[in-house]
Amino acid sequence: MNRPQEATVSASPESVLSIRDLSVDFGGPTKAVSGVSIELTPGRILGVAGQSGSGKSLTALAAMGLVPSNAHVEGSIRFQGQELVGMSEKDRSRLRGSGMTMIFQETITALNPVVPIKKQLMLAVTANLDCDADEARDRVEGSLHDVKLHDVDRVMNSYPYELSGGMCQRVMIAMALVCGADVLFADEPTTALDVTVQREVIDIIRGVADERNLAVMLISHDIGVLEEVSDELAVMYQGRVVESGPSSDVIANPGHPYTAALLNSIPRISGGLTEFVEMPDFALEAVEHGGTDRTGDHA
Ligand SMILES: Nc1ncnc2c1ncn2[C@@H]1O[C@H](COP(=O)(O)OP(=O)(O)O)[C@@H](O)[C@H]1O
Ligand SMILES: [Mg+2]
Repeated sequence: MNRPQEATVSASPESVLSIRDLSVDFGGPTKAVSGVSIELTPGRILGVAGQSGSGKSLTALAAMGLVPSNAHVEGSIRFQGQELVGMSEKDRSRLRGSGMTMIFQETITALNPVVPIKKQLMLAVTANLDCDADEARDRVEGSLHDVKLHDVDRVMNSYPYELSGGMCQRVMIAMALVCGADVLFADEPTTALDVTVQREVIDIIRGVADERNLAVMLISHDIGVLEEVSDELAVMYQGRVVESGPSSDVIANPGHPYTAALLNSIPRISGGLTEFVEMPDFALEAVEHGGTDRTGDHA
């Protein structure tokens, strides 16, 4: 049987995070992540789409060094040229926050309800960086500005319950960025939010990618959320990247039946509502026979 050909996202000389042939295995009959190769580049957003259970979160968690202890990770994950697979937990934890950072789906619950925002953000800085109170405060204010929270004094003196859901999500993004990370993993950051706030959060992620020259992996099960904002797109299915390339190309011209199925599942106002489609048999066969990567055509 032919081994499926892996789809990879463009290997760029300026890549800040390079994942090669990553697998994450829990000892089950199939690997949770298998042969995934992804490149993250400063100032660019890689959208990762795929249904629940396709290995999106584990790919990001493996890069962060946060997989469950019973997971076996193989392959290569290089951050600024430094190999992370096999690195000690002590060195790994030093990179979290200051080198790479992550925001999660239910981030709002990560805010402490009884501590004012300013104190939480200051703690995030002083726990990770060796800096004095003035520098910490500058970092906190800078991050709040970057997520378009302009009434900085009011926000800093508020408790989370005094802010809207969208503002809390912005605070969480600010907290993730406050230590000056170069790579951001955003794992379904808008799933718990209403549609208007979703849009705001996506725009903010785009803004910080541009302003901070941040390399972003934006994960969503909803390819529609990724359609406008991501520069590159990788589609995952059953632990593998089955298609990848510049977003506009993948969206306009899906080369893999699974991508087409995901795109057909987006409710579009012009075409009326479409229910999520089951993966058709022919698409499953196509997955078995390898992925689609048109990145090379556009490099
Ligand atoms: N702690 C775990 N133990 C065993 N298997 C797991 C664990 N976490 C995830 N998996 C497996 O890995 C697959 C991919 O998980 P995940 O990366 O969380 O998917 P996604 O984020 O795309 O929804 C899951 O379908 C599950 O089979
Ligand atoms: Mg997930």
